Amino acid sequence: MSVFYTLGIETSCDDTAVSVLRGEREVAAELLSSQIRDHARFGGVIPEFAARRHLESLLPLIDAALREAGIEGKDLNLIAVTRGPGLMGSLMVGVLAARALSRAWEVPVLGVNHLEGHMFAPLLEADELAPPFLSLIVSGGHTEIIRVDAFGRYALLGGTRDDAAGEAFDKAAKLMGLPYPGGPEIDRLAATGNPKAFDFPVPLKRTDRVEFSFSGLKTALLWQVKKMREANPPTDILHIVDLCASFQHAVVEALIAKLAMAVRQTGIENVTASGGVAANSALRRALREDRRWRAWLPQPSRCTDNAVMIAMAGYNAWQRGARSPEDLTPDPSLEFAV
Ligand code: KG4
Ligand code: ZN
Repeated sequence: MSVFYTLGIETSCDDTAVSVLRGEREVAAELLSSQIRDHARFGGVIPEFAARRHLESLLPLIDAALREAGIEGKDLNLIAVTRGPGLMGSLMVGVLAARALSRAWEVPVLGVNHLEGHMFAPLLEADELAPPFLSLIVSGGHTEIIRVDAFGRYALLGGTRDDAAGEAFDKAAKLMGLPYPGGPEIDRLAATGNPKAFDFPVPLKRTDRVEFSFSGLKTALLWQVKKMREANPPTDILHIVDLCASFQHAVVEALIAKLAMAVRQTGIENVTASGGVAANSALRRALREDRRWRAWLPQPSRCTDNAVMIAMAGYNAWQRGARSPEDLTPDPSLEFAV
């Protein structure tokens, strides 16, 4: 049987990412052009700016990825592209490029849900892992626990009532005066801090539902920082590592508590985590050390947005018969599991 090549394209937010997947899980090429430094000076992602940068970066990246994989466009068997959720302008660049290349090379195109992409990331290095398993997706826009009954059959066990975990990290960093994106920055500073220095509330710890809420925690941090900033002399900067460690500790506790609840309720003991926040070192440690489940985590660079996960999800969906129309359109609010 000849080898199946999938081109993965991911442009849902601020990273332009391209990959070539050989068969089910061999990475033949993986390239990423991050806009983080461009957006950091604005303290967040500027949608129009992001779309323009995708437009500049995407085709050269695809060229380079094909060269790295040692193939030509016509050798591809599938083009998998993120269709949503994400920023409309950014998604549009990826989807329209995929459609144009699909015509030029006569290769089918398949739209992929960004969240299904994240869900697939841990499978790259876990060939013994098969459904059923629980998938914790923690990113800048989503915090969800999904029961994967089979590939293509997903049930949402719970999500967030307000902010996503990554959003909480980013907002917390901002109010402590730290740069964007806040997650990696808090992670780094927390490493030398005391997670018990401040007793931040662990959100919804005692409710018996799988659900998250991070806005109260953010407010608790805000009050603490305000109090320390108004002291004479101000003490917030002095204790920044402890603030970061304590905040991070509360987020991790909330995620672990609800994951434990989902494991208890479903009896499923294989757990994956992905999305940007799954790169967090404290969360990774807590997930790995917990004896109530076996945790499967992608390497940190594949927790955040990447195109290998999109190619994997696309390949899997294609093999189980999923197809997209030639005039595939982006959907910024595409649903995943319900
Ligand atoms: O999955 P992702 O790259 O993009 C979305 O689909 O949203 O996730 C980005 C989010 C950001 O909020 C960022 O602050 C957070 O993931 N993040 C982290 C870490 N690395 C990225 N949060 C905590 N600790 C980290 N090490
Ligand atoms: Zn993402």
